[in-house]
Amino acid sequence: MNENEIIPQYDVTKQNYTPEEKILLGEIRNNLVDLAISAGETFQVNEDKLLNDIKNFIFNRLSTNNENISNKYIDKLSHKFLRDIIGYGEIDSLIQDDDLEEIMIIGINKPIFVYHRKYGMMKTNIQYNDKKELIDLIDSIARQINRRIDQESPILDGRLIDGSRINATIPPISADGPSLTIRKFKRDPMTIIDLITSKTISQELAAFFWLCFDGLGVKSANAIISGGTSSGKTTTLNALSAFINPKERIITIEDTLELQIPHEHVIRMETRPANVENKGELSMNDLVKNSLRQRPDRIIVGEVRADEAITLFTALNTGHSGFGTLHSNDARETITRLTNPPMSVPKIMIQAIDFIIMQNRIYTPSGISYRRISEVAEVVGIEEGTVQLNKIFQWNPERDMIENVSVASNTLQQLSELSGKSINDLYKEIENRKLVLNHMVKQNIRSIHDVSKVLELYYKDPQKVLKQIILGR
Ligand SMILES: Nc1ncnc2c1ncn2[C@@H]1O[C@H](COP(=O)(O)OP(=O)(O)OP(=O)(O)O)[C@@H](O)[C@H]1O
Ligand SMILES: [Mg+2]
Repeated sequence: MNENEIIPQYDVTKQNYTPEEKILLGEIRNNLVDLAISAGETFQVNEDKLLNDIKNFIFNRLSTNNENISNKYIDKLSHKFLRDIIGYGEIDSLIQDDDLEEIMIIGINKPIFVYHRKYGMMKTNIQYNDKKELIDLIDSIARQINRRIDQESPILDGRLIDGSRINATIPPISADGPSLTIRKFKRDPMTIIDLITSKTISQELAAFFWLCFDGLGVKSANAIISGGTSSGKTTTLNALSAFINPKERIITIEDTLELQIPHEHVIRMETRPANVENKGELSMNDLVKNSLRQRPDRIIVGEVRADEAITLFTALNTGHSGFGTLHSNDARETITRLTNPPMSVPKIMIQAIDFIIMQNRIYTPSGISYRRISEVAEVVGIEEGTVQLNKIFQWNPERDMIENVSVASNTLQQLSELSGKSINDLYKEIENRKLVLNHMVKQNIRSIHDVSKVLELYYKDPQKVLKQIILGR
């Protein structure tokens, strides 16, 4: 990294092939790839098979030349070839790097930018100089996802096979040439423990949510996670979903599959855009409506934007639980957006939300950003036509902590009434769950799989888990 640059540099080691390797790659392309691709109507390659074919090809070619070659060399070269063939060319190594949040191609003859999870915005040493080459890349991405981008529809919005979200535009929509933005899919998703460690949420708030989203089997709380673009709404939603009781039947509905819910009983639904003849669209609302016939306990809507809002709120008002994210800047605006077109949810229905969780992305002068839950508000009723909010948690910028700012939580009060447990008992339960979360933080139990295992054990036998933690086993 060059310290003197305003935007730090991200160096990509370019693929350097020897002249012989280049010839070999050309031969492989001619011989194997066409075969692999023509095997199906859409671009679908069996990677393992292709890798094997490449290995055999190299082995046969080089052994006929009587060259002395090691297996290790063949192995390494075949992997490099495979990435070159089915990967994403110049930007392939960027796509492989899980530390990158975003890859941004802003046009021709301009460096490709990346957003690094640790260093923020960075400038890479690679760029596209040839418009055709860049359009070819975008075209091949479009083909892979069975879509097209051309003068008639110059915007492409979709999801790569690895789960990353992409948006591409071509001139004249983008003036300086084609653009491509890739929001990388994190293979190893952030869990509630990561959110605690990175101070996005406190242990106290996490334990409180755990109790409320579980609802002790009598009333699991509903929540809308709100915030600006890329503030981490989906990540927080995903992490909080781990708290859902493993017995619940969950249906997730998204425009592009992003959620990674660890539960066994999940049905994942994804909307479908209209095809080239403008037919066959399945909207968010279609899927939310359909989910109601699937008898879910919990409906999770990736992003609430339009008429699906009313369907979702109808579900929440008829005994289902739900989560969703929404684009807005504060809790009040969340209500305003929900109750006005295009969502137009009647105010009376808004009361089904228990929590509005505000997620914020805060930028530092050095260009690095961090994410915080900045506010948690409860919807407590309607007075004179205005939805009443009760702020219970608020981020304190000086202490960089989210603090409890309310004496009473409506949701806890309700839970106490429905479960027959006193508020004090509920606070004790929150303390116990805090112990469990703290244990995971201390022991670095953080992967989605490990965290859900501990949560599951707790659901099964809380006393056993607490005893083990207290005894240090
Ligand atoms: N608490 C966090 N700490 C660090 N990185 C985070 C955090 N939350 C999210 N991220 C990263 O930020 C990026 C955007 O996150 P995410 O998709 O959750 O945001 P979003 O608000 O849902 O975005 P959009 O507005 O596009 O829906 C992802 O790469 C994610 O890994
Ligand atoms: Mg999102």
